[in-house]
Amino acid sequence: MPERRPLKLGVLVSGSGTNLQAIIDARADGSLDADVAVVISDKADAYGLERARQAGSLAVHVSRADHTDASAFNAAIRDALVAAEVDFVVMAGYMRLLGREVLAAFPMRVLNIHPALLPSFPGAHGIGDAFVYGVKLTGVTVHFASEVFDEGPIIAQVPVRIEESDTLETLESKIHAIEHVLYPATLQLLAEGRVRIEGRAVRILPGG
Ligand code: GRF
Repeated sequence: MPERRPLKLGVLVSGSGTNLQAIIDARADGSLDADVAVVISDKADAYGLERARQAGSLAVHVSRADHTDASAFNAAIRDALVAAEVDFVVMAGYMRLLGREVLAAFPMRVLNIHPALLPSFPGAHGIGDAFVYGVKLTGVTVHFASEVFDEGPIIAQVPVRIEESDTLETLESKIHAIEHVLYPATLQLLAEGRVRIEGRAVRILPGG
């Protein structure tokens, strides 16, 4: 069988980029066959851009303020991803709704990670919303992005039990620790060609 080449990823970040770092680290330790070709942020001071530079990846700031409307802004993001010839787009703490300009250029090739068990607790505060609601079980979801925020076919989920002793802070730590394992592991499934979309559902093919 011909050997697969590593995937090329374009990662979108708005903030600290700890998930980006987990992906970079997984590449370095050999557990992920995927290179981060470009990191794009809507925020000039996102620490994720600095992480990209330190890892030798291209770091690009695309400012919403420099574009007349959301469509032009999203077209600029798409153009940067296309120029870097990425196979998949990885949203890692990207805090804007991704426009159809990007989604149409990368159909079923845009991933998002959400810190709750979707479809429960979508939105910007998934961890806190689950904690305040009082559910006993929450978790982490990796899914293909669609035009609706935190929607789209689910690829992987890991549950996290909320214990009586948990505070919001301890729950956040547990969720982030799982994210940093689950995102690279899910990307590796894509790198191995083991992710099959069947309608709304995603099936994971057995490994060789
Ligand atoms: C993560 O909790 C992710 O699930 C959510 O935003 C956060 C990003 O954190 N979408 P980081 O920037 O990767 O540290």
